[in-house]
Amino acid sequence: MLEKDIEKVLVNQQEIYDVVERLSVEVTKDYADKYPIVVGLLKGCMPFMSDFIKRLDFHIEVGFMDVSSYHGGTESTMDVKIEKDLDMPVKERHILIAEDIVDSGRTLQAVIGLLKTRGAKSVEVVTMLDKPEGRVIPYKPRYIGISIPKVFVVGYGLDYQERYRNLPYVGVLKPTIYS
Ligand code: IMP
Ligand code: MG
Repeated sequence: MLEKDIEKVLVNQQEIYDVVERLSVEVTKDYADKYPIVVGLLKGCMPFMSDFIKRLDFHIEVGFMDVSSYHGGTESTMDVKIEKDLDMPVKERHILIAEDIVDSGRTLQAVIGLLKTRGAKSVEVVTMLDKPEGRVIPYKPRYIGISIPKVFVVGYGLDYQERYRNLPYVGVLKPTIYS
């Protein structure tokens, strides 16, 4: 039923599977002895983080934050509002932020800054998708699944007006849906 709203599949289920597998291998190499906290940024991180952490065969903790960015304002870290904060201390801990997509970089700039202020030992990012052309704050995530062009995508956690997060792949919406 949702498929009829999709113009084009950008990342299919097999590609998602392969990418998550590769990311988990890369992260395992770097974090297996670090007991990190994997911090998911809600709500978009949900399908990716779920698939991703199941492939990590070492001790981690998980935490969540919900932040909303005010696009178009000034570019200070104050542009991002914490809707739900982490419920655990990060002092002296290695933090791996799990994101659905990095676009302008504002969200990550704010969250990374906050976690470092709180004394995190390290803060890195694993993101399923990256839109490097959208960057306003220069930032390159440590672990990137797939880089995509500057198009608006939905599915596998990503929404358009809170819908389509449950699509099992990443696609581009038909223009008729926006109008
Ligand atoms: P930014 O990097 O601060 O601009 O924000 C990234 C956030 O914007 C992501 O976590 C998504 O929630 C949202 N976002 C960016 N690009 C898209 C998209 O193509 N579709 C859906 N949400 C997006
Ligand atoms: Mg997000």
